[in-house]
Amino acid sequence: MDKLVINGGHRLTGSVTASGSKNSALPLIAATLLCGNGTCLLERIPDLKDTRTFRELLAYLGADLSYSGTTLRISTRNLQSIQAPYELVKKMRASIYVLGPLLARFGRAEVSLPGGCAFGPRPIDLHLMAMEKLGASITIRNGYIDATVSSGRLHGAHIEFPISSVGATGNAVMAASLAEGTTTISNAAIEPEITALCDFLTAMGARIDGAGTTTLTIEGVPSLQPASFTNIFDRIEAATLLAAGAITKGTVTVNGVDATHLAAVLKKFEQAGCTITIDRDTITLQSPETLHPTDIIASPYPLFPTDMQAQWIALMTQADGISQIIDKVYHERFNHIPELNRLGANIEINTNEAIVHGPEQLTGTTVMSTDLRASACLVLAGLVAQGTTEVLRVYHLDRGYEKIEEKLRHLGADIRREHYQEFSR
Ligand code: UD1
Repeated sequence: MDKLVINGGHRLTGSVTASGSKNSALPLIAATLLCGNGTCLLERIPDLKDTRTFRELLAYLGADLSYSGTTLRISTRNLQSIQAPYELVKKMRASIYVLGPLLARFGRAEVSLPGGCAFGPRPIDLHLMAMEKLGASITIRNGYIDATVSSGRLHGAHIEFPISSVGATGNAVMAASLAEGTTTISNAAIEPEITALCDFLTAMGARIDGAGTTTLTIEGVPSLQPASFTNIFDRIEAATLLAAGAITKGTVTVNGVDATHLAAVLKKFEQAGCTITIDRDTITLQSPETLHPTDIIASPYPLFPTDMQAQWIALMTQADGISQIIDKVYHERFNHIPELNRLGANIEINTNEAIVHGPEQLTGTTVMSTDLRASACLVLAGLVAQGTTEVLRVYHLDRGYEKIEEKLRHLGADIRREHYQEFSR
């Protein structure tokens, strides 16, 4: 396994470019399953563990893929399977994104149940509800979702989500694009990744109204055509890099970001005392000498993202006072806190809120990653901790951050990757 070894205490300065978004790359790749003729071309697809797993999944289904630079070409003309096996789904929950496209194109899909995750049960009931509304019959058998459409083609329906779900909205839009008739989706997720998916589907010939709003109307079409699409930049990676500047009292510029995607996060950086300068697609963060304590409530877009909650807690360990952090999306997403406390932070957890008492001088030690964003939070803490911090199980980080240590080193961090053997009893 790999670990990151960080010698903290360096002020980060300079500029880096964000990679393509992981969370939009996955549904974009899934959407190519809807197109039975020709080759789709996706640009700015990051080379990450999760995008590799998704490519592997499509290859398993029989797709023909080639990846060069950040360009991914996919032809799903000769698919041979409609089954997403446990071995791949267990590596990445987002594999559920193949359910809607396979059902819509073939009237049949078998997708392994993803199981729980490090920060809670993460149900998929809303995905299944949406597919049933569109006419699928679903049974759970031997750990698999077995979905069929008796008439062969899904039909339009009204789908009302009781809560906002990025994944279930994505699956529903993809499935409805090839369904017979009109589908309306209420309380649709409005994350930029869903808007990007709608834009790609529209480029393929789908008829979608209301992209970027909570009500989507989709007029189903009999088939979709191959299309080219450039993925959006990764707003969470960009915000994490800005946080690296903020926590080290530095000045960091991130190129290639849509600042509107980060409005809620940038506002919080400003409340914390940082100076934010936006120039077209670049954002510069200049940290103050003393960070102000700043509360956040992680919620669906356009509010503060849950995927930045862990990194924000790391940042607030350096603020001058008490910050309250609430996560309304994943109430149990606090696995990073015991590890931060091992680095010397003073954070309490009460049910779904964390109370961060800052500032504390963190001191380096060995800490364990438990999930993707928790790993990013520990790396940020390591950048400011006195001495050496070793972040173990970096494979979590590798799921969603492309060349993160290279980018941080470029900004002046003392960080390197090493291989290690994990002892098991
Ligand atoms: C996506 C992101 C993930 C992010 C999350 C919330 C991808 C690949 N992942 O995950 O990084 O943290 O959005 O912004 O894009 N829920 C249900 N039933 C369902 C589905 C979801 O109850 O069938 C709940 C979840 O437990 C959670 C909330 O809905 O509390 C939002 O989850 P959702 O938006 O679906 O997250 P994902 O799409 O899995």
